[in-house]
Amino acid sequence: MILLDLQLQSLTSEHLSALLELDQACFGGLWSGDAYQRELDSPNSHLLGLFSPVENTTLLGMGCFWSILEEAHITILAVHPQYHRQGLGQALLYSLLKAAGDRGLERATLEVRASNQAAIALYEKFGFKTAGRRRRYYQDNGEDALILWLSDLQHPHFLATLDNWRTLVSDRLSQSSWKLLD
Ligand SMILES: CC(C)(COP(=O)(O)OP(=O)(O)OC[C@H]1O[C@@H](n2cnc3c(N)ncnc32)[C@H](O)[C@@H]1OP(=O)(O)O)[C@@H](O)C(=O)NCCC(=O)NCCS
Repeated sequence: MILLDLQLQSLTSEHLSALLELDQACFGGLWSGDAYQRELDSPNSHLLGLFSPVENTTLLGMGCFWSILEEAHITILAVHPQYHRQGLGQALLYSLLKAAGDRGLERATLEVRASNQAAIALYEKFGFKTAGRRRRYYQDNGEDALILWLSDLQHPHFLATLDNWRTLVSDRLSQSSWKLLD
């Protein structure tokens, strides 16, 4: 089987238009160009992209976290709808958690729509637990947000788990003909 290269990269200003295209495809325009530019400019914001040199859509997925004290606050995680269920979302989440751990952060947290079963299943697969609920958090439809947490990012047990995930992530990608480059 031929495997297609997949590359993980920190995003910079040169990726702004690709980010807006991906945002449009995933969310119908969630964040503005100015909002992405602020993320790209902020030293506390870590924005990662998954690229394929051979696909028409070159930026296939993105993920972002803010370092706030000892926490990684995951602010966005999205995969282009044409590439769902191929292991890209978990590759991105793995990479965000690895980057957070490498920066010495202790915990990861995020808010997710209570109805977003796909994302909740993904986060739970990686050990996130529900820590609370923000009532009517989303202004567009008054939906609740679940607050998810993952603790002990610096614990040796978590570091071993990360290594296992690296293998699981690569195996899942290769089933869908992807190869994540180092
Ligand atoms: C959530 C999202 C990033 C998942 O990306 P993906 O590349 O399709 O996910 P993966 O193929 O890596 O799936 C990994 C795991 O997530 C879970 N999952 C993903 N999609 C799912 C779905 N539609 N239903 C149930 N579980 C799902 C499963 O546990 C899956 O593991 P499995 O394949 O072993 O069952 C993607 O659906 C997305 O971009 N959604 C829109 C943006 C969004 O809602 N982001 C989250 C904001 S907090």
